Amino acid sequence: MRLGILTGGGDCPGLNAVIRSVVRAATTHYGSEVLGFRDGWRGLLEDRTTPLDVAAVDGLLTRGGTTLGSARVAPETLNAGIAQMKGVLAAHGVDVLVPIGGEGTLTAAHLLSQAGVPVVGVPKTIDNDIDGTDLTFGFDTAVSIATEMIDRLHTTAESHQRVLLVEVMGRHAGWIALHAGLAAGAHLTLVPEEPFDVAEVAKIVEGRFDRGDTHVIGVVAEGAHPRPGSMPLRDGGLDEFGHRRFTGVAQQLGEELERRTGKEVRTTVLGHVQRGGTPTSFDRVLATRFGLHATIAAHEGAHGQMVALRGTEIELVPLARAVAKLKTVPPRRMAETGAFTG
Ligand code: F6P
Repeated sequence: MRLGILTGGGDCPGLNAVIRSVVRAATTHYGSEVLGFRDGWRGLLEDRTTPLDVAAVDGLLTRGGTTLGSARVAPETLNAGIAQMKGVLAAHGVDVLVPIGGEGTLTAAHLLSQAGVPVVGVPKTIDNDIDGTDLTFGFDTAVSIATEMIDRLHTTAESHQRVLLVEVMGRHAGWIALHAGLAAGAHLTLVPEEPFDVAEVAKIVEGRFDRGDTHVIGVVAEGAHPRPGSMPLRDGGLDEFGHRRFTGVAQQLGEELERRTGKEVRTTVLGHVQRGGTPTSFDRVLATRFGLHATIAAHEGAHGQMVALRGTEIELVPLARAVAKLKTVPPRRMAETGAFTG
């Protein structure tokens, strides 16, 4: 059998570990071949490939990023390119395609699957917002990085009696903010799922200083936004992929808090540092298991599926179900932070 593999969307720690796992499992267990497509769907559309054998994936387990390269491709381009992609796959004799990616990549995988291409998806995203899987690899690494950074900010904030706002990634879902906030003892966590009221945030900040606290640490997901009428937030419009362009919610909130409370506020935007570097051991294991089970599914004919973590086991869920909606932070998980914030 010949497997095709590609990595789409934003890079994520653990992508290389999945590639290595698929190549090792496919070649060693099944005697199959693996063909990599460069730069995600773009490489498939443009027929840019690279053969992958055991030697090619040597040392990949610990390496961040993706050795295949990645790219975002607009949904319209993908829709228009289905026949083209089918042609390229057929020309290379690819029996099953294994796309590794987030919501956009898995939606494209579902489209191809509906068009008759045998596909087994692997979910990735540091945002952890893919439905149908308890976790995606990359999330644990991002939370670990964010937690370490927030730990460091505690000491500088208390030395200056400041409010420090940390903006973390999380476009539609606040999982990174929630987990890093809990892990690092943040006093305030703002997520996209629950629009904030700046007056309430200012009250929390003042309350903490009134009670004698030396500093306030707030974790703000990049996709967090104020309740309508609460405070203005600059609109960055949409990018070419239809994604909202962020304009720095933490910075704008910080300016508003300084004005309202008179406290000194500083903002740190963690940005892509959360996606860089080597994956944690947890993510290496999850990525390796995902790759192995995707390879097994491909060889057993379980197509149109995505590998998923359910409890401690790796299972398969239909791609249709996985892309039907995003997995956002439920109110009960935010409520749990109540005892530690405010
Ligand atoms: O989806 C993962 C993610 O890291 C989001 O948290 C973030 O908004 C986005 O990717 C950033 O994308 P880019 O690397 O294209 O700026």
